[in-house]
Order: sequence, then C-alpha cells, then structure tokens
Amino acid sequence: MSQWVRLCSIGEAPEEGKAMQVTTPEGVDVCLARHGGDLHALDNWCPHRRGPLGEGWVEGGAVVCPWHAWAFDLKTGVAHPPERAKVDVFPVKTEGEDVLVDLA
Ligand code: FES
Repeated sequence: MSQWVRLCSIGEAPEEGKAMQVTTPEGVDVCLARHGGDLHALDNWCPHRRGPLGEGWVEGGAVVCPWHAWAFDLKTGVAHPPERAKVDVFPVKTEGEDVLVDLA
C-alpha cells in the first residue's frame, strides 16, 4: 500500500547534480537528489557509519557519502563496488508544486 508524503516544494528541491536532506513530518530522513533532470529519494543514512547522504554530492548516477565517499546508485540504492551495501530507495513524484515520496 502506498504512503505518499510531501517532502518539499519543487522550488526547494535540489538543482541538477545536487542532493539535500529532508525530514518528513513522520520523522523519516530522506536524501533527495537530482540527476538527468529526475528527482531520486533514498534513505538519508549511509549504512557504513551513518553518514548523511543528503549532505553528499551526485556523481555518475550515484549519490556519494560525504564521510568516506561510498557511492550509492540513485535508482537502485546499491553501493558501487567494491563496497557491498544498499540503501532503501523511495518512489518520487510531483503533484502541483509539491514533491512527494512513497515511504511504504
Ligand atoms: S559513513 Fe558513508 S561512507 Fe562512511
């Protein structure tokens, strides 16, 4: 079952190649990033040492953790080799002026 929640307005969403951290009213921390014009939403907390992915940067279709540079594919959440880890990825959509994520 879907659970769409508002993350921010389109105007507040990150620019191309950037990421940001957004906390939903439910207290879920999301990394919102833009690549190729599309918005992507992932769990904000890096599985290595809980670095804040939303404070990282976008490179090669991945968000790079600002602490030790592990990179996670924006579409799948899978870490680039040689790391073996994965973060949750949430569906994203826009509705009117709002950016929504499905936390289900
Ligand atoms: S905490 Fe993210 S790479 Fe170490």
